[in-house]
Amino acid sequence: MSTAEEWSKHSAIEYYSKHRHEVSDLYPSEKVFLPRVLFPGIKVLDVGCASGGFFNIMRSYEPSIDYTGVDLSKVAVKMARERYPEARFIVTEGFGLPFEDNSFDFVHCTSVFNNEPNYQAMMREMYRVSDRFVLVDIRLLKGIGKQQNSIYNIQFEGNGVEATVPYVVNDADEVADFILQLEPKPKALRGTGYFHPLAEQAELAGSEACMTMLLVEKGDTEGGATVIDLGDLPIEFSLSGS
Ligand SMILES: C[S@@+](CC[C@H](N)C(=O)[O-])C[C@H]1O[C@@H](n2cnc3c(N)ncnc32)[C@H](O)[C@@H]1O
Repeated sequence: MSTAEEWSKHSAIEYYSKHRHEVSDLYPSEKVFLPRVLFPGIKVLDVGCASGGFFNIMRSYEPSIDYTGVDLSKVAVKMARERYPEARFIVTEGFGLPFEDNSFDFVHCTSVFNNEPNYQAMMREMYRVSDRFVLVDIRLLKGIGKQQNSIYNIQFEGNGVEATVPYVVNDADEVADFILQLEPKPKALRGTGYFHPLAEQAELAGSEACMTMLLVEKGDTEGGATVIDLGDLPIEFSLSGS
């Protein structure tokens, strides 16, 4: 079954229609950067928007946002349009965003990279269409060298397996190095997060990973280096360029 079909299953749609649409539904790490980047009139792209809950969350912080949500699930987008007719929702893949370069002030993508082995291709595409901020979450571990990838049998609220998707933990240094070599060179890379147990149904070697929010800022470095502010993360980074 395709990723779109898995995320279109009734229980997934049902879950995201009931959760993840209020500020109180956010994880602590998600409350750090989001309110800081929003400003009146901001053009937002939300990749993997499901039934649109982050439109409601973002406008709770900043009522005047120009929001576009995209998702590969037609069922999720249909529900998003019904719930929030004042926003714009499009069915599309995060790997090929149908937007010009620098179209949005802010590109947001949460709870997607933990189930997406090719985060690099999506990150490149989101950075391309952003004019300023890209905010993503990703699970990181130090020193694993290459990505750990397993199967995740999701139980949303029922008893049995309700959807099956990949479950991915990435190497911390690989991810930071990848972001730092994006073109044009990022103006800043900031992070926050904490260690937390992995989902029980995901069969991975480790028992926990650093639940990490990364805020990438695109803009003029004035010929200088990228500002790196990862000190809030409980991981010592060894970056190849530094
Ligand atoms: C776990 S839900 C997260 C929903 C919301 N972003 C949140 O944080 O609550 C993941 C959503 O991302 C969508 N998705 C996964 N991979 C995608 C891709 N490559 N392009 C677009 N949407 C994707 C799925 O269809 C699903 O609706």
